Amino acid sequence: MTTSETAVSVSRANREFWDGDAERYHADHRTYLDGFHWCPEMLSEGEARLLGDVRDATVLELGCGSAPCARWLSGDGVGYVSAFDLSAGMLRRAGTGHDVGLVQADAMALPYRGSVFDVAFSAFGAIPFVRDIDALFRDVARVLAPGGRFVYSVNHPMRWIFVDDPASFAVFTSYFEEGYLEYDDAGAPTYAEFQHKLGDHVRALVGAGFTLDDVLEPEWPEDLTETWGQWSPERGRIFPGTAIFSAHLPA
Ligand SMILES: C[S@@+](CC[C@H](N)C(=O)[O-])C[C@H]1O[C@@H](n2cnc3c(N)ncnc32)[C@H](O)[C@@H]1O
Repeated sequence: MTTSETAVSVSRANREFWDGDAERYHADHRTYLDGFHWCPEMLSEGEARLLGDVRDATVLELGCGSAPCARWLSGDGVGYVSAFDLSAGMLRRAGTGHDVGLVQADAMALPYRGSVFDVAFSAFGAIPFVRDIDALFRDVARVLAPGGRFVYSVNHPMRWIFVDDPASFAVFTSYFEEGYLEYDDAGAPTYAEFQHKLGDHVRALVGAGFTLDDVLEPEWPEDLTETWGQWSPERGRIFPGTAIFSAHLPA
């Protein structure tokens, strides 16, 4: 990894990556994207209710992609839900016929006034793709009202060390490696993903003023045979693939 890439060049790289990958992502994960699933272990919000009762709440989704989660909430009677993503190619696939307020935006520059949301959440959106989660979580705290909840799922930090292959248990890199970036011939990043260690998540949340309520590590269901990227039944039986952090601001 070089030190020349900036948050702006990382965002540009990931916007172009997700614009280009949107079609494949939606073709490969049809069942997952049909509703609000927190993770490849297929934990659904309908069953888990990690956001609590949001019928009167104003909710924000970070890195929504085509907004399957926000769209599910909108059909489930949420008060109001807004959702943003970096990639127009992903957002375009949200279609019409729902009440989600969709916005194209970068998580590193949230285009919202302060204290306007009761709940913020993300299902594998934006957070793994930004280096500075301290700054991001401070901005999430800014747009949340007092007492606001923040719930998000990400790759379980221990997954970072393994090769990106659902059938393999080979260790590929260090848990302490900061990120994985690809570059073009001119040295500009074309893809970027970052490793946030367990302690990084805790420090970023606490540093932004949140109280951490829980860290869920969903187990792989016995009847789930579908492989999802690097997530598979073989791996899922042995170690966690997802961490879901739940936190709240003081009232
Ligand atoms: C794995 S997809 C998850 C999308 C959606 N949450 C889902 O469950 O399908 C990751 C998403 O994060 C978005 N993303 C990456 N970096 C971002 C950033 N800096 N700001 C906003 N969104 C970002 C990508 O465009 C992509 O849509």
